[in-house]
Amino acid sequence: MAVLVTGGAGYIGSHTCVRLLEAGYDVVVADNYYNSSPAALERVKKISGRDFKTYEVDMLDKPGLEKAFEENRIDSVIHFAGLKAVGESVEKPLLYYRTNIGGTLNLLELMVKYGVNTIVFSSSATVYGIPEKVPVTEESPLSAINPYGMTKLNIEGILRDCQAAQPDLSVVLLRYFNPIGSHKSGLLGEDPKGIPNNLLPYVSRVALGIYPHVNVYGGDYPTKDGTGVRDYIHVVDLAEGHVKALGWAAENKGAGVFNLGTGEGYSVFEIIAAFEKACGRRVPYQVTGRRAGDAPIVFADCRKAKAELDWAAVRGIDEMCRDAWNFVSKNPEGIK
Ligand code: UFG
Repeated sequence: MAVLVTGGAGYIGSHTCVRLLEAGYDVVVADNYYNSSPAALERVKKISGRDFKTYEVDMLDKPGLEKAFEENRIDSVIHFAGLKAVGESVEKPLLYYRTNIGGTLNLLELMVKYGVNTIVFSSSATVYGIPEKVPVTEESPLSAINPYGMTKLNIEGILRDCQAAQPDLSVVLLRYFNPIGSHKSGLLGEDPKGIPNNLLPYVSRVALGIYPHVNVYGGDYPTKDGTGVRDYIHVVDLAEGHVKALGWAAENKGAGVFNLGTGEGYSVFEIIAAFEKACGRRVPYQVTGRRAGDAPIVFADCRKAKAELDWAAVRGIDEMCRDAWNFVSKNPEGIK
């Protein structure tokens, strides 16, 4: 029996495959390599010392995706595949709805056809919109402030509806905060194509000398130093959360929703300082205007994941920055 990992070649997907293989699960990966590369999966095999089947397929190609179900005994799915750039989603909402929601519908229909009863979904703290109160708990109000966030919110709703209609289904919605860091081997890491939208990949490229400085989006927020505060979580801790989610699903029918963060908030300035310490270089920055749609401060209440998944993040900010730098300095051109 195997876990089908959609988007398994991506940043969080590849780290999760490593943890699944180490934990003894068999894995089958489906990925179209739109924002990733098959080389990442070769590296997963190298790290884990285990082989697995891969399918180069788009989630919208239902017959192509069906091959993964036909040719393997899939008993659970971890669903990462989808588009994730907030700004692009504002410009191309239909692309985001078609890709993220359409792909999920294909997957769910195939799960019904092949009797697969477990799905872990890659949701996001974006479903909390701009939180009024922090830390955010799983009960905090939900809202979407861009089409990307709306796809996450809609897919959560679709999965809950499917679970209500099919009581033997186990659904786990994992709301990630801000994943950073890399596998300690330096073989896997975040490798966005084009100009990065997110803070850490941008900071890394400034440290590499690719860009002259970081644009700090807003220095006048009501936070400790005026810059935005987020809950950064090491991607290996996040990967472990998926293994725990499969364990939860094996014991529980129903829909479980869990925040995966550290419970600590760091400002943009604190991240730049931690990264400078990790790489031993200066990371110049300029404070510019706020980015539309950014919350001043977001961090998680993670007590539910601790209590019900027996999961907690264990890696701190210095380790996150050290591991991120280890990856980018060894792979300045990404994963090829
Ligand atoms: N930031 C900068 N400069 C940059 C990039 C980001 O100052 O070049 C700041 C942002 O304003 C924010 C912080 O750094 O205060 C983090 O920004 P990211 O873009 O790295 O992350 P976000 O919190 O905006 O978004 C991330 C994911 C989304 C997800 C969201 C959930 O990118 O997919 O977390 O909260 F939905």
